[in-house]
Amino acid sequence: MNKLRAAVTGIAAYVPEEVLTNKDLEKIVDTSDEWITARTGIQERHILKGEGLGTSHMAIEAVNELLQKTQTAPEEVELVICATTTPDMVFPATANIIADACGIKNAFSYDMQAACSGFLYALSTASQFIATGTYKKVIVIGADKMSSIIDYTDRATCIIFGDGAGAVMLEPTEEDFGVVDAVLQSDGSGWVHLHQKAGGSRRPPTTETVQHREHYVYQEGAVVFKYAVQNMAQVSHEIMERNHLQPEDIAWLVPHQANKRIIDATAQRMGLPDEKVMITIDKYGNTTNATIPLCLRDYESKLKKGDNLVLAAFGGGFTWGALYLKWAYDGK
Ligand code: UT7
Repeated sequence: MNKLRAAVTGIAAYVPEEVLTNKDLEKIVDTSDEWITARTGIQERHILKGEGLGTSHMAIEAVNELLQKTQTAPEEVELVICATTTPDMVFPATANIIADACGIKNAFSYDMQAACSGFLYALSTASQFIATGTYKKVIVIGADKMSSIIDYTDRATCIIFGDGAGAVMLEPTEEDFGVVDAVLQSDGSGWVHLHQKAGGSRRPPTTETVQHREHYVYQEGAVVFKYAVQNMAQVSHEIMERNHLQPEDIAWLVPHQANKRIIDATAQRMGLPDEKVMITIDKYGNTTNATIPLCLRDYESKLKKGDNLVLAAFGGGFTWGALYLKWAYDGK
């Protein structure tokens, strides 16, 4: 028997209707459309509005569409992993809530927390279950309602983030497609530069933590930027070297969408021209765990069977990584 690999056999995604443009943000904080566009590449982002709607709301939309697109009965799914930094609740896992709502009754499900690299961590983990022959249908979700942890009085962070969800189906193949390799890293000492101060077990919520605005994303932007540029480019270059990939062998770079300048630096290090780089940051901003599946969904019609994709991310933790994926079907 040939070696099993985990092939992506379908992709679906969802963004909420409500759009927050740079011009809208000009009315809320001291910023400008010009500054945001030049420094980040973002023009607008989608925001989930509605009482009681959490990350699962968007993920359920994506998973239901994925089941339909791949003609999968919910009962066939064996494992659901949801990468999220903004779970519906501290516990239970948002993956459980999603699976239940989608009628996925014969699976186990759990969340994965690796901030912006979560989707890559989850994809890599899920692919191991497939490659060992343990499971045949696994759903990997990347979803975040970042607007729930953003301080809309802080111009340094509120301009960056948006809400969204995406999901892929993984199935085994003996052909030359699927997840080939991944380089994943973390460095816990980086937590000081990017975190949420309160709400966890170290600093549970109190009136004081709320008054001090500690339930929001805290980011030292320039420091994170420096690490992101260096590490995302390094790991993307490493995955090319390890797999003997030349720039001409790569069809697409699928980068986490945190800042257009970080994406450009990564593409440059890999020797890739702009037309091989998936960009959605202008439309969605940084949706944390959802950026990579949103890219795959938006570019799906351009993807061809056998295309070599390099997925790359950097985020809070610090966490970062690159994953080499051979696309398994014609997008059209
Ligand atoms: O996805 C997870 C990982 N996160 C990232 O990868 C994000 C990495 N960081 C970044 O993308 C960038 O650092 C930011 C977009 C967050 C900020 O851009 P920057 O070019 O690094 O700006 P900065 O923080 O160094 O600030 C430069 C100036 C400051 O003013 P002074 O001190 O030079 O007068 C800021 O106060 O820009 C000011 N500034 C703004 N001005 C207008 C910061 N935010 C804004 C704003 N509008 N929204």
